[in-house]
Amino acid sequence: MNTSLRDGIDWVGYVDWTIRDFHGYRTERGSTYNAYLVRDDKTALIDTVKRPYADTLVANVSALTDISKIDYVVCNHAEPDHSSSLPVILKACPNAQLVCDAKCKDTLSKHYDTDGWNWKVVTSGDTISLGKRTLTFVETPMVHWPESMFTYVPEEKLLFSMDAFGQHYASAHRFDDDEPLDVVMAEAKIYYANIVMLYGKPISQVLDKAAGLDIEIIAPSHGVIWRKNLETIISAYRRWIVCKPAAKVLVVYDTMWKSTEKMALAILEGASECGVDVRLINIRTSGTTVLAAEILDAAAIAFGSPTLNMTLMPQMAAGLTYLKGLKPVGKAGFAFGSYGWAKGGARDVETYLKDMKFEILREPLQAQFVPGEEILDECRAAGKMLAEKALAVTCEKEGQ
Ligand code: FEO
Repeated sequence: MNTSLRDGIDWVGYVDWTIRDFHGYRTERGSTYNAYLVRDDKTALIDTVKRPYADTLVANVSALTDISKIDYVVCNHAEPDHSSSLPVILKACPNAQLVCDAKCKDTLSKHYDTDGWNWKVVTSGDTISLGKRTLTFVETPMVHWPESMFTYVPEEKLLFSMDAFGQHYASAHRFDDDEPLDVVMAEAKIYYANIVMLYGKPISQVLDKAAGLDIEIIAPSHGVIWRKNLETIISAYRRWIVCKPAAKVLVVYDTMWKSTEKMALAILEGASECGVDVRLINIRTSGTTVLAAEILDAAAIAFGSPTLNMTLMPQMAAGLTYLKGLKPVGKAGFAFGSYGWAKGGARDVETYLKDMKFEILREPLQAQFVPGEEILDECRAAGKMLAEKALAVTCEKEGQ
């Protein structure tokens, strides 16, 4: 496996082929925890890996250098998938200074026994010379935690970007041009939607900071390293940070005895007649990870739930709660669902949509028990309305 980013700069992380649950995120293609070794007159390790894989990190580093002589260990982000090997690594490199910003020092101190750690606290603009190369630090709060930062090596035009531009994607190759771009981009989109959608504004500021740097390689903390398709991933981020809508309609539902499913299919049918991209998601079988990614660029969405115990179905509540946390912006839609003797399902779905500041396109569309042709026609008309909204929003955004 080629792990060399530049002469003397190598990937030394861990490929986690089998992980499928990353704190609730379904990682269908596994992940990687990327760490990097920069060998110059002085040696720096950029980030670490999840604790169970600390031995692999030690072995990868030791294959390239005497680990006990490492001068600096940089911690760009304190989340445990990148920091939980620090106690092991710092024991293996007793002379190393741990480089991080002040908030990161505080966060690490609340995770680990940091007694005896040799800190070097940095802030934006600070530099460390390794010899021919310089580490330059850029604080990037909320990308993905408050203490996060980037490390930039100007002599190599290389940015260690932490979680930004990452993907949960295990592969045999380390670089974007060795893997199918459509698959990598699909995983980058799922990652963005689930990990950083909430932080669109800070990400936007980071993109502005990054625009001022001369960059040929972006080395994130998960997935492949970008050395060929930088413009593709950066322009995708520019769309994603504003949830830029495509002419796409989403119908998301749960169902009990197939009545709400019949309504969902009729809505989909109505939307399909208008030349927009349409997607149907059964929240119970597809799950929230896929839902977040599909929402990111959908212009108009219908959410449906039958009434169960006077309210919406639990998986729909979970999906909507998850979305509410991610705060998608600029969406339009409505609620629908069947009921028996009380109308709580669609009503409570609509409350979530209002909380998320959706533009509500119509009152909840409801059917008692099983929808008849009249209701299904109303569903088709509502689907057409969603599609027309999606087309109008897309044209409006394209014109801006
Ligand atoms: Fe990959 Fe926010 O940690």
